[in-house]
Amino acid sequence: MATMESLIVTVNRIQRACTVLGDHGGDTNLPTLWEALPSVVVVGGQSSGKSSVLESIVGRDFLPRGSGIVTRRPLVLQLHKTERGLQEYGEFLHLPKKKFTDFSMVRKEIQDETDRMTGKSKQISPVPIHLSIYSPNVVNLTLIDLPGLTKVAVEGQPESIVQDIESMVRSYVEKPNCIILAITPANQDIATSDAIKLSREVDPTGERTFGVLTKLDLMDKGTNAIDVLEGRAYPLQHPWVGIVNRSQADIKKNVDMIASRRKEREFFASSPDYGHLASKMGSEYLAKVLSKHLESVIRARLPGITSLINKSTEELEAELSHLGRSVAVDAGAQLYTILELCRAFDRIFKEHLDGGRPGGDR
Ligand code: GDP
Ligand code: NA
Ligand code: MG
Repeated sequence: MATMESLIVTVNRIQRACTVLGDHGGDTNLPTLWEALPSVVVVGGQSSGKSSVLESIVGRDFLPRGSGIVTRRPLVLQLHKTERGLQEYGEFLHLPKKKFTDFSMVRKEIQDETDRMTGKSKQISPVPIHLSIYSPNVVNLTLIDLPGLTKVAVEGQPESIVQDIESMVRSYVEKPNCIILAITPANQDIATSDAIKLSREVDPTGERTFGVLTKLDLMDKGTNAIDVLEGRAYPLQHPWVGIVNRSQADIKKNVDMIASRRKEREFFASSPDYGHLASKMGSEYLAKVLSKHLESVIRARLPGITSLINKSTEELEAELSHLGRSVAVDAGAQLYTILELCRAFDRIFKEHLDGGRPGGDR
């Protein structure tokens, strides 16, 4: 019987195929289709720990991180869960035939590809890098890493950069399909958190915002973030999740992901302040919460997605029938892929319903 998981996988693939197609979607429903499918975006100030949180969710060490403006282009990261025992690898959209099994090379390629677009400057570019990760150890998710919000330009950056970054971030988070991970470091004044400010603006009811409090290990001795984590100080619709990522020193010492997750678990379990919350804290818990939420969003949108997909299928068939005149060959191949995926989705969806318990087979 078809599972919710296979629907999410197909949704993921359609998203990816739509991405490849880029602007060639023409008059089809594809842009709308893309927006009907949920993705998770990290938002926060520079060095708040956005890239580190994404890495922890993936459970792999592969993103450029550090002080200052490191993430300078959006990174659209699609996680595809594969069967147990298969080797993990990454694949970039701009290098379609190359499988990256060494994740330090993934990091290098992100850096190089960023520089190719922006030069080795501190400039930013809104053109996303697309990376897929295939692994038995991930949940099916699309995650987007963005440059951090900042208040001042640094040397080598145009004055407009503050506004440019904000507009770029806004263009992602204002979409109703976007699930916002609002990242706030616990060692700074939470009242002034850019992440919370922006997410409140674009998502006033808080139904698509998850508050993530990083750097709990860096708080001043004698202080804690209990008021935030228990939802009193800044109530959000979804509970806050506290995180302890690797410090810069850990990164230098090459502390690996397994060790850092263990350290994070120990931090919460042994903490006099947070011990009672330990089962609802940490990056593994966050990944689970997100995956569950994504599933419920897709479930709620299935009827809408299905009718969009049916509409797209008709338009794609029409478009393909006069291929050569209206679209480039590459785009034609892509349209065909999307068409196939839409059909697959429709088939899985129907099997799902035939399972007799629509939306309840897990
Ligand atoms: P981004 O700019 O928001 O993407 O932040 P990064 O993930 O690049 O992290 C910025 C710096 O903060 C890096 O040196 C990280 O090691 C460090 N960092 C991030 N989260 C934590 C945390 O929870 N605890 C500690 N000690 N350091 C962290
Ligand atoms: Na940074
Ligand atoms: Mg970053």
